[in-house]
Amino acid sequence: MHSRRKIETLASAVHHFCNWWDIPVRSVLDIGAGVGYWSNWYRKNHQRTKVVSVDVSEHACNKYGHQLRDISSWTPTTKFDLVICQSVLQYLDDRAARAAIKNLSKATKHVLFFEVPTTNDLHHNVDRTVTDLEIYSRSGDWYRQELSRNFKQAGAGLWIAKTSTIVLYELEGTAR
Ligand SMILES: C[S@@+](CC[C@H](N)C(=O)[O-])C[C@H]1O[C@@H](n2cnc3c(N)ncnc32)[C@H](O)[C@@H]1O
Repeated sequence: MHSRRKIETLASAVHHFCNWWDIPVRSVLDIGAGVGYWSNWYRKNHQRTKVVSVDVSEHACNKYGHQLRDISSWTPTTKFDLVICQSVLQYLDDRAARAAIKNLSKATKHVLFFEVPTTNDLHHNVDRTVTDLEIYSRSGDWYRQELSRNFKQAGAGLWIAKTSTIVLYELEGTAR
């Protein structure tokens, strides 16, 4: 769990990356929104952007104003310029995570910000004293394989929908 300040810095960076790629962010979907740092940043700083935040927890929905949705079974019917899915898919088993990634691709018009701890992260990168370890551990290759069906990896957690108009220069993205 990151602080509000860290998420605000990240949200600003991702927003400006979208602008750099000539995408005015008119709609945002925050999946597994939790305490709502991402969606609140958009609601406060970009009031003309349509913001939808969803979570599977009734408690989070009631407290923070999200729609009650399970991303493994809910397929959004419209696409959003930017979709956020930060620190959510580690709570889903393989079947549900695969279904969720399919739904992410149906929801994303241009850019997906995606973050999840992989098996390697759990061994080498996370602070295990402050990380929820009651989760499903999968390799980076597992996630890359699933996401690469419909997205190109740009790096820094950013994935570009293959159907988007965004053109990445060769060295802006990864080799895969
Ligand atoms: C660790 S919190 C992350 C919250 C927020 N994304 C962040 O980065 O601050 C994980 C959130 O994902 C939600 N979540 C877990 N499984 C979900 C699912 N299948 N569909 C939607 N939300 C889910 C949880 O209820 C929780 O609010």
